[in-house]
Amino acid sequence: LRRIPSESSYVLVTGGLGFIGSHTTLELLKANCNVIVLDNLSNSFDVVFDRINFLAQEFHTQNGSPMPSLRLHPHDYRDAKALQPLLEEYRLPSRWGVAKSKIAGVIHFAAYKAVEESIRHPLKYYANNVSGLIDFTTNLGDFGIKTFIFSSSATVYGTLANSGLPLKEELCVHKEEITLDRDGQTQTVQPGCTGITNPYGRTKWICESILADLAASDPEWTVVALRYFNPVGCDSSGLLGEDPRQTPTNLLPVVVKVMTGQYAELQMFGTDWETSDGTAIRDFIHVTDLARGHIAALSTANEGKLRENFRTFNLGTGSGHSVLEVVNTMETVIDRPIPRKAAARRAGDVGSCVAVAKRSRDELQWTTEKSLKDACQDICTFLNVSGLSSKQC
Ligand code: WQD
Repeated sequence: LRRIPSESSYVLVTGGLGFIGSHTTLELLKANCNVIVLDNLSNSFDVVFDRINFLAQEFHTQNGSPMPSLRLHPHDYRDAKALQPLLEEYRLPSRWGVAKSKIAGVIHFAAYKAVEESIRHPLKYYANNVSGLIDFTTNLGDFGIKTFIFSSSATVYGTLANSGLPLKEELCVHKEEITLDRDGQTQTVQPGCTGITNPYGRTKWICESILADLAASDPEWTVVALRYFNPVGCDSSGLLGEDPRQTPTNLLPVVVKVMTGQYAELQMFGTDWETSDGTAIRDFIHVTDLARGHIAALSTANEGKLRENFRTFNLGTGSGHSVLEVVNTMETVIDRPIPRKAAARRAGDVGSCVAVAKRSRDELQWTTEKSLKDACQDICTFLNVSGLSSKQC
């Protein structure tokens, strides 16, 4: 793993105890970064902090390397009264009147992310995800903290191709931007928001636009927006598994509920898609690979090697698997059938959504290493370790 800032600098991770945040915090510590976790524990638990600390200590003991510092600041990233003293604590003497900080970069996960809930409570999502971002980056800028890694999503691609033309259902492969040829002039366009099917996705697109404008207004800012495809799996230790308190809607957590007997069967939403087996295709990326993509982004940003001071990257494998392939893979791992049945398509779904992963490979020197089967095996380890599964996986 590439080193990032020097020993005397820190990385601030908002939402650092969440599913992706906790895996990224662990990988940062393994990469010898000092980490400050800012998390209000609204959708996470402080036991996760202890587990990250344990795993990182274990890693450094085995490698004979010093354990970096890990600190939890249990507050909401929007709480300026709690944020100011923290940023003050890491302030460095300003140089030529320019604020400086020991915080070398921020990775911003803290946001609401439930698609269905965003449809019922849009203002809650715009307040936290969008207004919160504006206040947060304003505070960071005042302290000279201007390297910012933003947790975005493939949802920004919506159901329309960048060109605004309806996608063919059978294959929906996304590049970060596309070059349009208009009257002989080539133009590079970001995805438009017209095809986004829910307020959550729109908050991500709006935040990307805000950050792009911020970077354009001040070259001191370096911003990377990472568009996640479908994060799955967990750390191979099984200690950081995904055990959602809310009713899960994503495929793998639902499969886990069926495996552990909490649900009778999996409903496969749509078996009439234009795909090889009729079920929808997604780009399932192991969460540890995803976490390492953040390390690569922060390294590249800190080394001044980004092509532009606002840059978007897909974090996906570049390969698709169908829902049925996921079920079959998990059945192979647990060596027993998973009850499932065909069901109607889910509103807002597309038949296929797969990343073009070239840019992150070329510009971040990052690529995925783990497979869907690895993710299924790691989920089983989590179930066995946590005792959530009545049957040994
Ligand atoms: C995957 C496939 C479902 C559950 C969502 C969010 C997106 C991002 C990732 C945050 C689809 C099918 C699912 C079930 C099923 N989250 N499925 N039965 O919809 O691709 O993306 O999570 O950034 O914003 O939209 O992921 O896991 O919900 O669904 O058949 O019980 O599994 O129809 O084809 P999705 P998902």
